[in-house]
Amino acid sequence: MAVYPVASVGELPEGTYRIIQVEDRSIGLYNVKGEYYAIHNYCPHQGAELCKGPVCGTTLESQVYEYIYGREQEIVRCPWHGWEFDLKTGKSLFSEKVRVRSYPVVVENGTIGVVIGR
Ligand code: FES
Repeated sequence: MAVYPVASVGELPEGTYRIIQVEDRSIGLYNVKGEYYAIHNYCPHQGAELCKGPVCGTTLESQVYEYIYGREQEIVRCPWHGWEFDLKTGKSLFSEKVRVRSYPVVVENGTIGVVIGR
């Protein structure tokens, strides 16, 4: 396991993201409400560059004919067919079994690092 420094805290304000390259992996690094998350830039559906999709929220559980929008900034929507993934866990919103790989993120002395295991 290794920590790869990828950005300084000042380079990634809340609500922003960047796509980084770590070794041969393309990774989306996100600042979600002041916490940092990293996911693989590859959609498990048909391989789109998932992190080029919009960061958004989603509709929450509600009554019939009631639409409640929430979780703003916590979801990424695939640009190809719209599958949605939780940036905090990598899990899809429609199935516990479908997920994108996520990576631990550490912050040390103002530097954001992504942890890659073998
Ligand atoms: S490739 Fe991402 S939803 Fe189809």
